Amino acid sequence: MRTLTRLPLDTAAFREKYGPWAVIAGASEGTGECYARELAAMGISLVLVSRRQSALETLGETLKAEHGIDYRAIAQDLAAPGAGQRIVDAAAGLDVGLYISNAGADSFHRFFEEGPAAAHRLVAMNITTLIDAANGLGRRFLERGQNGQGRGGIIIMASGAGLGGQPNLAMYSATKAFDLNFAESLWAEYHERGIDAIGIAAPIMRTPMLLRTVPEGFDLSGVYDPADVTHNALAGLLAGEPLQIVPDGPGQEKQPQVEADRKARLVGFVEFNKTFTGG
Ligand SMILES: NC(=O)c1ccc[n+]([C@@H]2O[C@H](COP(=O)([O-])OP(=O)(O)OC[C@H]3O[C@@H](n4cnc5c(N)ncnc54)[C@H](OP(=O)(O)O)[C@@H]3O)[C@@H](O)[C@H]2O)c1
Repeated sequence: MRTLTRLPLDTAAFREKYGPWAVIAGASEGTGECYARELAAMGISLVLVSRRQSALETLGETLKAEHGIDYRAIAQDLAAPGAGQRIVDAAAGLDVGLYISNAGADSFHRFFEEGPAAAHRLVAMNITTLIDAANGLGRRFLERGQNGQGRGGIIIMASGAGLGGQPNLAMYSATKAFDLNFAESLWAEYHERGIDAIGIAAPIMRTPMLLRTVPEGFDLSGVYDPADVTHNALAGLLAGEPLQIVPDGPGQEKQPQVEADRKARLVGFVEFNKTFTGG
C-alpha cells in the first residue's frame, strides 16, 4: 500500500475537546470502522450508524470489551428521508462533541446510462442527510461550550473527486464538491467560536467497498491504508485545519499548493466578513 506519514495527535486534548461521545454515520466497515477504532482507543463512546445493525453491534461490543466505552448502534439508511434528523434523535441525551459524516461512496457509471433515482439517493446521503445532521448536532455544539464559545467538531469525508469534475463519477464528484465547500464554510463561520470542521479530500483507499468495486487484477499497490487517512483527519481537525487533500490522481504534485491556496482564500473571506459585518 502507499505510505502516508501519520501526523502527531494529542489524544488527551482530542478527547477533552470532542468527547465524551462521537457520532459516526457509516460506521460498520472501511474508514468508518477506522474512525470508530481510533476514537474508542481514546476512550470516546460512540453512536454507530449504518444499515447493518448486526455489524454495528459486533463492532460496538468489540470496542466496549477492548476499551470500556459505551455505544449505541443505529440501523439507518443514510439516503432515506429523515435520516439526518434520526441521527440527531439517536444522540439525544448524550454529550456528543463530534460528528463524522463518513459514508458516501458511489459506483462508476456514465450519467445518462442510469436513471436519476440513484443520483437522488447520493444527493440525499452526501448532502441532505449531512445538512440535517450537522445542523442538529452543530446547534448542540454551540450550546455546550463556555463563555460564549461552542465546543465540538465535524469531519466530512469527501474525496479528491470533489476537487474537480471526473468521468464516470458525475454525481459523486458533484456531491463531494458540496461536501468540501460546506466543510470549509462551517470552519470559516465557527472555528473562532470553538467548533472545528474539516473536509477530507480522501484518496483511493483499501476499504471493503473499494475491494468490491475494482475489477479483478486491479493493482492495489498505489492505494492508501484507510486507518492512516482517518488518523490524519482526526489530527487535522484538532490542529484546526479546514481541509486535507491527500495526494492522489493526475496532478497530485500540485495538491499541497491547492490546499494552501484554498485555505488562504478562506482566511481572506473570514477577514473580509469581519470588516463587512463588524466582526
Ligand atoms: N475507498 C476509497 O477509495 C475512497 C476514496 C475517496 C473517498 N472515499 C470516501 O470515504 C468514505 C468512506 O468510503 P468507504 O470506501 O469506506 O465506503 P462507503 O460505502 O462510503 O462507506 C462504508 C460504510 O458506510 C456504510 N454505508 C454505506 N452506504 C450506506 C447507506 N446508504 N446508509 C447507511 N450506511 C451506509 C456501510 O455500512 P452498511 O453496509 O452497514 O450500511 C459502511 O459502514 C466515503 O465518503 C467515500 O466517498 C473513499
